[in-house]
Amino acid sequence: MVFDELRIRNASIRPAHILAPMAGITDTVFRRFIKQLRGCGLIMTEFVSSEGMIRQNLKSQRFLYYKDEERPISAQIFGADPDHLSEAARMIEDLGFDLIDLNLGCPAKKVVKCGGSGLLRDLPLLGRIFSRIRSSVRIPFTAKIRSGWSDDEIVAVPVARMAEECGVEAVAVHPRTRMQGYSGAANWEIIQQVKESVRIPVIGNGDVTTPQAASALWERTHCDAVMIGRAAPANPWIFRQMMDYFATGTFTEPSDADRYQLIRSYYAMLVEESQPGAIGKMKQFASWFTHGVRNGTDLRRRVQSAQTTGEVLDRVDQFFAALFNTDEQFHIADPPSSHNESFHNRGCLVH
Ligand SMILES: Cc1cc2nc3c(=O)[nH]c(=O)nc-3n(C[C@H](O)[C@H](O)[C@H](O)COP(=O)(O)O)c2cc1C
Repeated sequence: MVFDELRIRNASIRPAHILAPMAGITDTVFRRFIKQLRGCGLIMTEFVSSEGMIRQNLKSQRFLYYKDEERPISAQIFGADPDHLSEAARMIEDLGFDLIDLNLGCPAKKVVKCGGSGLLRDLPLLGRIFSRIRSSVRIPFTAKIRSGWSDDEIVAVPVARMAEECGVEAVAVHPRTRMQGYSGAANWEIIQQVKESVRIPVIGNGDVTTPQAASALWERTHCDAVMIGRAAPANPWIFRQMMDYFATGTFTEPSDADRYQLIRSYYAMLVEESQPGAIGKMKQFASWFTHGVRNGTDLRRRVQSAQTTGEVLDRVDQFFAALFNTDEQFHIADPPSSHNESFHNRGCLVH
């Protein structure tokens, strides 16, 4: 089956569906939330500064917090100093992470001066970094790259080859250049070129927003795993949908009741964990989670103007109660699909 399993030495990633690292999004709560919905074989932390780790800065420590139920889990680090990166890598191993990943993709100005996609312009330094990290840890070591700095400096193939020679055990490719940022389309041909150039597994990333797109990515590149970024907060079911699609050729779309349950359970997790900035996260996620909900704009507006987490929860409940009441009045309630039932069975529609 397509994207059935990816093995990186002793790490089994099954299915071979990976949640992309996303700063400000893929914290421990979101990662566990995605895991619960099934279909995601590997999750990754947001990128963490090796310099911050060495200074034991609180933010880095928070980024590296995880729970056992998140396994297998990979920690992503960035930096440009080989000694500091190797020290940070050892710390990651000591913290018990299953894998370590090096960020070679971040396009932010602040970051490219000291790592991220900036390293794609200095391959001798990058080679030293690969070797130093490799010799510092025993856990599987992967790298996540962009295609290059600009259209005139496409280096994905030489970087992937060098990574392989230095003992990096898989490479994830987001085929946009640093100059592109997130604009334009991801050029999957680069993923294909990398796949044809190395023996280590290649993880394809970029613009996969549906199970059909994941299938097209595989057809095009024969990559070993698919990594999903921005589609995950908008449609956290995408991992399970891919699993169903590859197994049966079909998958179900979430109903309004599913979306209600999704928002409610994510918000409840944020509140329970007393996450710093929980209300900010609620507002941030409202704009993603409510896409596809009827009158989603109204719900987003109500969430945005709430002052407390309790108020957010009340407004979400009121909105959906009104939505479902209207359905009952007009007898247009969706028959629960098997997918919906699993949520209902947990009694989640009752506040
Ligand atoms: C808000 C945001 C934060 C991101 N943070 C990271 C990061 O910390 N590390 C990283 O390697 N890539 C990061 N990325 C890039 C994603 O991992 C991914 O490569 C990119 O979004 C393309 O995949 P997609 O089309 O599936 O979104 C980030 C992307 C977004 C939108």
